[in-house]
Amino acid sequence: MQKFQFVNPTKIIFGKGQILQLAKEIPSGSKVLVLYGGGSVKKTGLLESIKEVLKDYQLGEFGGIEPNPTYETLMKAVELIRKENYDFLLAVGGGSVIDGTKFIAAAVPFTQGDPWEIIVKHLPIHTALPFATVLTLPATGSEMNSGAVITRKALQAKLAFMSGAVFPRFSILDPMYTYTLPQKQIANGVVDAFIHVMEQYMTYPVAGKVQDRFSEGLLMTLVEEGPKALEDPENYDVRANLMWTATLALNGLIGSGVPQDWSTHMVGHEITALYGLDHAQTLAIVLPSMLEVMKEEKSAKLIQYGERIWNLAADLPAADKSRLAIGKTRNFFESMGVKTRFSDYGLGDEVIEKIIASLEIHGMVKLGEKGTVSPQVVRQVLKLSL
Ligand code: NZQ
Ligand code: ZN
Repeated sequence: MQKFQFVNPTKIIFGKGQILQLAKEIPSGSKVLVLYGGGSVKKTGLLESIKEVLKDYQLGEFGGIEPNPTYETLMKAVELIRKENYDFLLAVGGGSVIDGTKFIAAAVPFTQGDPWEIIVKHLPIHTALPFATVLTLPATGSEMNSGAVITRKALQAKLAFMSGAVFPRFSILDPMYTYTLPQKQIANGVVDAFIHVMEQYMTYPVAGKVQDRFSEGLLMTLVEEGPKALEDPENYDVRANLMWTATLALNGLIGSGVPQDWSTHMVGHEITALYGLDHAQTLAIVLPSMLEVMKEEKSAKLIQYGERIWNLAADLPAADKSRLAIGKTRNFFESMGVKTRFSDYGLGDEVIEKIIASLEIHGMVKLGEKGTVSPQVVRQVLKLSL
C-alpha cells in the first residue's frame, strides 16, 4: 500500500425527510443563496420545501446552472453574491449545480484576477464561501469531495480543479429526491460512479486489499442495483444503495493509498467540451477501449476484476479473462441504456484528431497511472471506440 493522508470533512445527512435538518445545520443569521439547475427542483417541489424549512433566513435564488456548468453562467452568480453579500450557498441538484457552486464559492473572494485562473493556473484557493448541498442525482460524488469540473464555452474547454477549501460543509442525501430522475440520468449516474471506481481500482496491485475489496463491493452493488432502479424507480432501498455507492465511489476513501488512472475521464471531458455528449456517455465510449489498449499493463487487476465482479472461472486462460471482463463491462453499460460507441451518437473518425489536439492544448499528454497514455495511445483508443 502506498503512503497517504486522508481527510474528508463533509458531514453526510442521509435518509428520508432529512431536509428538515437544513435549518439546524446552516448557521442562523446567514444570508443564503439557493442555487439550482434548469428547473427540475421547481417541478418536483423540492425548492418550495427548502424555502419552507429556511423561512427564518434571508434567502435568494440563482437558477439556470446548466449540465456541464459554464464559467459564463457561474460568473453571473459571482456578481450577484458580491453585490448582495450572501454569506452561505446552498446547491440543490446534481453534480453540475454542486460543481458550479464550488467554483462560485472559490471565485467570490478571489479578486486578484479572473477566477478562471484558479483553474488554468492551478492557483491555491486560500478561502471560499461556505456551502452545503442537497443532492438530487447520485453520480459524481461531488457532494462529498473537493473537486469540480467547469466548462468555458467560449474556449471549448472543460477543466477540473480541486481544493480542500471547497468541500461541502454538509450534504443532505434523501434517496426519495431521486425518484423523479429520467431513465437516462439514472443510467448516467450508475455508469459514472462505476467508472469512478474503475479509475481508482483498475491500475496495478499494491497490496491494497481493503481498497480493492471496498471498490469491488461498490462495483457489485452498481451491477446489482443499477438495473433495478430502471425497472422500479420508487424502490427506496435500491435508490438508497445507489446514492451511498455513488458518494463512496469518489469521496477519497477507495483511492487512498493506491495508484489512480483518470485517463478515461480526461479524454471524456474533451469529448463533452467538443461535442456536448453527457459526461457518462463519453466515459462509456472510452473505458472499454482504454481497457483493451492497456490490457497488458493492467492485466493483474483486469483478471482480478473479471473473477470477482463477473464471476469468471479461475481456470480460464488469462487472455480470455481480460477479453471477457472488458466485454462484460461494455455489455453492462449497454444494458443500462448507455451506448458505448461514437457511431451511436452520430460521430465518426473526424473526432479523433480534434480530441487529440484538445488534450495536447490542455497538457494531457501523459495520462494513466504510469503516465504511459500518450496522444498516440489515445488515438488507438479512439479508433477502437468508433
Ligand atoms: O438542471 P435540472 O433541471 O435540475 O435537471 C438536471 C439535469 O438536466 C437533471 N436532474 C437532476 N436531478 C434530478 C433531475 N431531473 C429530475 N429529477 C431529479 N431529481 O439531470 C440533468 C443532469 O444533471 P447534472 O447535474 O448535469 O448531472 P450529473 O450529476 O451527472 O453531473 C455531471 C457533471 O459533473 C461533473 C461532470 O463532468 C459534469 O459536468 N463531474 C464532477 C465530478 C466531481 N465534482 O467530482 C466528477 C465527475 O467525474 C464528473 O466529471
Ligand atoms: Zn465522472
